[in-house]
This record gives sequence, C-alpha cells and structure tokens, in this order.
Amino acid sequence: MGDTAASQTPTFSLEGRRTPVDLSPEEFAEMGHRLVDDVAALLAGMRDRPLGPGETPEQIRTHLNASAALPEEGTDAASLLKETTDLLTTHSVYNAHPRFFGYITAGAAPIGILGDFLASALNPNMGGWSLSPMASEIEDQAVRWIADLVGFPEGGGGILVSGGNMANMLGFWAARAAKAGWDVRVSGVAAAGAKALRVYCVRGTHTWIQKAADLSGLGSDSVRWIESDGHDRMDLDALRASIVADLAAGDRPIMVVGTGGSVSTGAVDPLPELRALCDEFDLWFHVDGAYGAFAAAAENAPDDLRALSLADSVALDPHKWLYAPLEAGCTLVRDPGALLAAFSYRPDYYYFQQDAKNFFEHGIQNSRGFRALKVWLQLKQVGRAGYAKMIAEDIELARRFSEIAEEREELEVFGHSLSITTYRYVPTDLASRRADPAVGTYLNELNEAIQGRMEKGGDAFVSNAVLGDVYALRMCVVNFRTTLEDVIALADITVDLGHAADDELRPDALR
Ligand SMILES: Cc1ncc(COP(=O)(O)O)c(C=O)c1O
Repeated sequence: MGDTAASQTPTFSLEGRRTPVDLSPEEFAEMGHRLVDDVAALLAGMRDRPLGPGETPEQIRTHLNASAALPEEGTDAASLLKETTDLLTTHSVYNAHPRFFGYITAGAAPIGILGDFLASALNPNMGGWSLSPMASEIEDQAVRWIADLVGFPEGGGGILVSGGNMANMLGFWAARAAKAGWDVRVSGVAAAGAKALRVYCVRGTHTWIQKAADLSGLGSDSVRWIESDGHDRMDLDALRASIVADLAAGDRPIMVVGTGGSVSTGAVDPLPELRALCDEFDLWFHVDGAYGAFAAAAENAPDDLRALSLADSVALDPHKWLYAPLEAGCTLVRDPGALLAAFSYRPDYYYFQQDAKNFFEHGIQNSRGFRALKVWLQLKQVGRAGYAKMIAEDIELARRFSEIAEEREELEVFGHSLSITTYRYVPTDLASRRADPAVGTYLNELNEAIQGRMEKGGDAFVSNAVLGDVYALRMCVVNFRTTLEDVIALADITVDLGHAADDELRPDALR
C-alpha cells in the first residue's frame, strides 16, 4: 500500500505550470506571420520552380534524417518551423503547379489554405453540435450548397468525409442498410437464411468498391464487374443480364454504382438509364462522382452527368474539382434519414441536443475535424458562376490538348472526356507498325519511361491509363492555374522526352 502511494507521488511541481507545447502570443504571432510570408512566396514562385524534387526515396530519407530517434528533449519552435518549411518546400511535388496534370489532384485554393488554419485554431469537434455550434451549421450549409451546385434535389442529407473513397463507402453502407431486406446492421450479412448481396458497376470502377464490399462483409466477389460498351460506359444489356442471372441463382442484388467521370478516362456511365433499371429491380442507385460530379455545374459537361440528380446517393470530392486542400469528400443522400439508418447509435455517455444535427450519427467518424470551413469559404468566395466557369475552362483545356496532340505527328490521342485526355508518343517510323506485338510492347515501355522521366525532370507531371494492351499517358486538368500555354508545353515536353527516350531505349530489332 505504502509503495503504491509512493509511486503515485509526482516528482514535479504544478506551481506556475508552464508546458513545453505552448507558445507565448508574441512567439505564435511572429512564427505565424513568417510562415504566411513563406507560403505566399512559394505560391507566387510556383510556375518557376521544378514541379518535383526528382529525388529517390533514399535521398528524401537522407534529407529528413529518417532514422533519427525520437528526441528526448524538445527544440526551439521558431527554428523548427522554419527548417520544416524549407525541408518541405524543397522536397515536395507541387500539385499547385500549373503543369501538374497527374491523377486527379488539385492545388489548394488560397482561401482554403487559410481556412484550414482557422479551422485548426478553433478546433471544434464536429461530432456533436454542442461542441461545434457554428461550425456544424457551416458544414450543414456547405453540404446543401454542394448539392445545389450539382443539381441534387433539396431536402436530402449529407456529410463531409475525408475523400472520395470514404464518400463512396458511405453510399455503399447506406445501400446495404436500405436494401438488404433484413436488419443487416444487427444480424450481419451472414444472418440465418440471408441471401448473398450483390452490387454492380462497370469494369474499371475505382478500387474503393473492392474495399467497400470487403469491409462491409459482402466480400469482393459480390462485386459484378459489368463490361463496358467500348467507350468505358456500362453496357446496359450486360448489366440487366447479370442482375437477372443473380436473381435466378437466389442472390439479392442491392445496388448499381454508376460512375460520373471514371478515374482512367473520364467516362460517364448512362446515368438516366441506370436509374430506370434500378427502379425496375428495386435497387439503390449510387453515383461515384468523386472526379466528375462538380462538372455537372459546367455548360460543356456531358448531359448524362447531370442525371446524378436522380441517384439515391452521390459521392463527390471537394478536394478534387472544388480545389479544396486535402482532405474533403462529401456524400449526398436523397433520403435525409438514409445515413442515420446506416450509422446511428446513441450511447448514454453522450448528451447532445436532439434538435440539431450531430454529425457523428451520420457517418463513421466520431471526433471529426472542421474540414467544412475551407469548402464553405471557397464556395462563398467563388460562387456558382465562378465554379461553373473554372471547371468549364479545365474541360476545354483538356479538349484543346487533345486537338494539339492530334496535330503532332508523334502523338497518338486515344480520347478525351471531361478534363482527361489519354495519348501516347509513337516514333514516326513505328506508326505504321503499331499492330506488331513487339512494337506494341516497346511503345508501352517507351511511354512508361517518358512518364518516369517527366516526373523526374520536373517540367510537367502526367499519370497513366491502361487501355486494353496499351500503356497510355493521361493528362487531367483539375487545376485553376493551368493556361493554354501549359497544355501546348505539355505536348512539346512529351515529344522532346519521347525523342530522347526512343534514341536510348529502342531495341536493335526495331531499328
Ligand atoms: C472515380 C473516383 N472514385 C473514387 C476516387 C477516390 O477518391 P479519393 O482519392 O479522394 O479517396 C477517385 C480518385 O481519383 C476517383 O477518380
């Protein structure tokens, strides 16, 4: 007993407590001003910097001193912040660079950067309204504005999440709860007498669906990958046949996932027809609009995309085409109770007002950050017309690139949809021999090498798409800093790198 009491006696005093994590108001202000100046300079000089460090993982680890042990004692905060700013600004890939065309990753809108700072300073816990009264209402308003921007009907529900994967998963879980036909949240997917639940999507759907099927207990085998119609859009006859076959086998189809802008090529599924099929078979209709949904606000987007307004749930990604800093995804549901029906529990250790929205009940997270602020600030700063214009310009820039590339003898364009153009470099003397399998293999290697060299060189950044047997380069404009000169430059950069790589890599047999 005595020993225990002794071991609990603190060796320190609480008199005049001063903690090593705190900063004086003066220190904080000075460090903050300096940081803002450094970030402003970074953004101002972005165009003139190499897009990435072009360093190997080993070199990056050396700069970080990656193997260093946890420091026992702390260090001066001001110099730490300055050194870290320098470390990051010299060894990062800048998705804010006007020639960043990779994946679907936007540079952060300046007011969003500041919004994240303000959000962290207030640090409201967005799980419960009473912990975040104004902040929760701001999230609710931001979600309603997002719905309005893309033409999703009023009166539904929604929530902000970390990104597209999570936004889609929430739609998936809402579908599972709504359409399983028994209380799947209580009894599970393996309930007595339960039928196997089936979901349908076009081949090429983003990998979130495998994770969702896996983590929700359906298993990834429950995903029916429907063939496309040759333009990366779901083939409706194949979809119908798959549903009918599953029903005949005694399984239970629950949802169809339509893609509103595919990750590889920007293809948009025939969303109106998918809605009709879902009605016919009483299925949940979810749209993965993580990439493309916001383009529904733009005049030059495919009409089919606007039919996302017919969905039961839609996933969107403000950190893509609203140019919000990572992380910000959003799930919208037509039925305002659908997320509660999928996620709500009310433990007795929470006392939250019931006349307001407690976001922890509408999703998976409990404690939640104020990601809504940056999104809300941006929507308010830019407005509907501003977003419609920026997104339309991004689409037009990708289309113009496809025209520019088509005019170049050495570039082959595969297609353009939304703000993605897929293309590759083909040496002129090999163009007529493209069908030869050895040439095809070499062209794949060559274009992969071009992509790698571009990334290392730092003049531009593209990613890739695999189109059948072809390794294609893929440029995607989700970038409010990109200009026409930048897409012209991308064609030049690709051709120059192509020439150089072909000189070095071409096997003798193909010379
Ligand atoms: C169509 C589609 N769905 C889902 C995702 C996943 O989004 P996130 O990376 O924000 O999780 C992406 C990402 O590019 C996407 O393009």
